[in-house]
Amino acid sequence: MGSNVVAHEAPGEHVPTPGSTEQQPDRRIGLAVIGAGYWGPNLVRNAQQTAALRLHWLCDLDEQRSRKVLGEYSTVASTTSYERVLADERVQAVAIATPAGAHHRLARAALEAGKHVLVEKPITTTVEEAADLVALAEERGLVLMCDHTFCYTPVVRRIRELVHGGEIGDVQFFDSVRINLGLVQPDVDVLWDLAPHDLSILDFVLPPGVEPVGVSAQAADPIGAGRACVAYLTLRLSNGALAHCHVNWLSPTKVRTTLIGGSRRTLVWDDLNPQARLAVHDRGVDLTPPDELTDAIRHRALISYRVGDVVAPALVEQEALRNVMGEFAAAITEGRAPLTDGRAGLRVLRLLHAASRSLELGGATVPVDGTAGTAADTAALITRQPATQQKAVAR
Ligand SMILES: NC(=O)c1ccc[n+]([C@@H]2O[C@H](COP(=O)([O-])OP(=O)(O)OC[C@H]3O[C@@H](n4cnc5c(N)ncnc54)[C@H](O)[C@@H]3O)[C@@H](O)[C@H]2O)c1
Repeated sequence: MGSNVVAHEAPGEHVPTPGSTEQQPDRRIGLAVIGAGYWGPNLVRNAQQTAALRLHWLCDLDEQRSRKVLGEYSTVASTTSYERVLADERVQAVAIATPAGAHHRLARAALEAGKHVLVEKPITTTVEEAADLVALAEERGLVLMCDHTFCYTPVVRRIRELVHGGEIGDVQFFDSVRINLGLVQPDVDVLWDLAPHDLSILDFVLPPGVEPVGVSAQAADPIGAGRACVAYLTLRLSNGALAHCHVNWLSPTKVRTTLIGGSRRTLVWDDLNPQARLAVHDRGVDLTPPDELTDAIRHRALISYRVGDVVAPALVEQEALRNVMGEFAAAITEGRAPLTDGRAGLRVLRLLHAASRSLELGGATVPVDGTAGTAADTAALITRQPATQQKAVAR
């Protein structure tokens, strides 16, 4: 057996016997996945399909869960001991898919042990914790990546290219709807469950220099679930444009639509329409500057409507998580920040906190200044019933 192979088993773990005693030097990045619940198995599957990665461990507090995910013939070891994973020198990186409350502790321990970290959204539950991870990763020269999965879909990558490349002109509005009959989560409200997707997409596609500066949110719990099931977020952007996100667990129909309006083009992304997921509309409303009008037509409306082509760009079908794993591996190999690094996770978290703070303040606009919600007890904040609804339930 090669000297770098962990062979002995501790209680609560299963270490498969290596198939061969002849080992080539393995240049792949040694990985462990933490969490074998709903999402963890997707990380396991995609890590195993990524040539640059070598999955060594699946760690979950429930070992049976890990064993079930890995199957009988897997060469990946399972354990309940995170310490054991971090002590394994073959492990250069961990991917954390536990509930958000454990993200900071697990990610911090991994960074302290010199491991690169991929952590699920939301990066942590408080802004301080996220800032702490970002600082630690930068101090240690380690990759800290947040799994903002949608940013790795071909459609969002294309939207980003179109916006950053100036194709749509100046961003005038962003409008996204993410509604369906969703699982009412035990630990988070609909805002913290679904809006991280929309906010991470917004963060990813906005052009450099344009960012949210204020957030106001409204939410409701019409079924008395004890947490908001419907929420509307309005974000004021630094260029004066508005962004709006509607998230809802109670809608009988599923809608996944995002519009990004620009001064030249408008993008319409319907994620439930694989034939034409993205449409680029050369349609919109133009306003002619008054000084360009002749006296003869000055009396006519300054507004004109553009009715041009609608183009549906060809997009490849790719599993986003495969791209997530590829980007994580590439960032480690190239010693660079990943596309959705810890700072992106922190920015999204600031927006979520500002939105939760706004709910507390009855929908008031809360500035995104990095301090919103920092003093709050986040666990209470993210599951608190909206003020208006508390009254309704109490009656
Ligand atoms: N990117 C996405 O689209 C997406 C989708 C779903 C979930 N998620 C995120 O993935 C994370 C996990 O969500 P889930 O739905 O899989 O949760 P889950 O509750 O189904 O699974 C979590 C697992 O983590 C294990 N666990 C908890 N604490 C642990 C610890 N200290 N050490 C080891 N294992 C531990 C639990 O035993 C459980 O098996 C969350 O952060 C969630 O937001 C992301």
